[in-house]
Amino acid sequence: MKNVVILGATGQIASWVVQGLGQLSGVQQTLLLRDPRKLSGAEPDNARVVIGNVLDQELLREVMAGQDVVYANLSGDDLEEQANSVIDAMQTSHVKRLIFVLSLGIYDEIPGKFGQWNHEVIGEPLKYYRRAADAIEASGLEFTILRPAWLTDEDEVDYETTGKDEPFKGTVVSRRSVGDLVIHLIRTPGLHVGASLGVNKPGSEGDKPYFM
Ligand SMILES: NC(=O)c1ccc[n+]([C@@H]2O[C@H](COP(=O)([O-])OP(=O)(O)OC[C@H]3O[C@@H](n4cnc5c(N)ncnc54)[C@H](OP(=O)(O)O)[C@@H]3O)[C@@H](O)[C@H]2O)c1
Repeated sequence: MKNVVILGATGQIASWVVQGLGQLSGVQQTLLLRDPRKLSGAEPDNARVVIGNVLDQELLREVMAGQDVVYANLSGDDLEEQANSVIDAMQTSHVKRLIFVLSLGIYDEIPGKFGQWNHEVIGEPLKYYRRAADAIEASGLEFTILRPAWLTDEDEVDYETTGKDEPFKGTVVSRRSVGDLVIHLIRTPGLHVGASLGVNKPGSEGDKPYFM
């Protein structure tokens, strides 16, 4: 049995992952979320729900006990603090594997006009995401950071990835695609450990996302 904890489990990418993992035998999910009103009511049989905040270190340590994989799908101005709380609880509980969704643009890795546009439009929050990435990379955990392009709700799985030292490709990617990659990482021990991956839809290059 593989035990997976999902932090921010009613988030939009996470919802794809919860449903996808619900189809798999041999997986037990723990869904940590702040607001039970956001539950769909269609949570899979292999999921148990814990209500709480990732900044609640005591709760987080309880939740971490016996977990094999932590998948964090979080957001907010305090993302660095959230990341540090997750790292502390994992280290204390001797849980090693962490998959953390952050954002494109945190390393200034987007070339051309789109890179400039992205920097101007996202602005300050890129710093919070970058600080969270730095904390995760320095944690000693078996991490994979995902840096999705601008997210869409297209019902499709179509993506490619770029490494940390490569120029970012494309402008958009579907949340379902990012969820598919998270599931692939959860199912494949050792895959992309220590990597920070850009995730984009192939052929979506442009000066800005098509919907902006
Ligand atoms: N929009 C884009 O184009 C884009 C592009 C690249 C990356 N991203 C980033 O990718 C990440 C995932 O995207 P998404 O669409 O799945 O995001 P989302 O739907 O906003 O999900 C984020 C989740 O984090 C939860 N959360 C925030 N702080 C928390 C805390 N202290 N404790 C527990 N849960 C907490 C939120 O819970 P509540 O529901 O209680 O607030 C929410 O469920 C986000 O960080 C997003 O900013 C976005």
